[in-house]
Amino acid sequence: MRAALLILLGLAIGVIGTSRVMNALAARNPMPKAVMHTMGYHMGELKQALKAQKCDAATIQHHLLRLQSTATDIQPTFGIADKAFVDDANQLQTRLQQATVSAPATCEALAAALKPVGETCQSCHQKYR
Ligand code: HEC
Repeated sequence: MRAALLILLGLAIGVIGTSRVMNALAARNPMPKAVMHTMGYHMGELKQALKAQKCDAATIQHHLLRLQSTATDIQPTFGIADKAFVDDANQLQTRLQQATVSAPATCEALAAALKPVGETCQSCHQKYR
């Protein structure tokens, strides 16, 4: 009886210890959040430009290119293999590429280019955030 209890206790400690270690490892990998914060910064700058009605083509292109390149880090850093996640990550890349190629030079063009991008951010966040 006592041996059985000790074995159970040992198992419980093992389970708790494992989950602690997993949490600590997750906390030590800042990359997924860093990727999101970087994209959030560039999206924020573009939205700010819209709000202020200051839509400089070169500045817009810079932020779109940074978004496009950062979006390629989503899959390798999150390592989530779900089809819906991978589809959204791919769609984000496609839409950012389209936005960059369209080279918005007015606030109107920027708003139109950002709409499908924002929808993809939202789509994945609704499912995975
Ligand atoms: C393929 C899925 C996916 C796409 C697409 C996506 N995100 Fe995220 N995002 C996530 C997940 C998952 C989290 C939660 C991360 C966490 O808590 O560790 C998140 C969190 C965030 C956060 C909060 C970071 C924090 O502190 O937790 C911001 C800001 C963000 N995303 C911005 C964006 C922007 C801007 C876009 C579009 C340009 C975008 N995301 C597109 C999956 C995605």
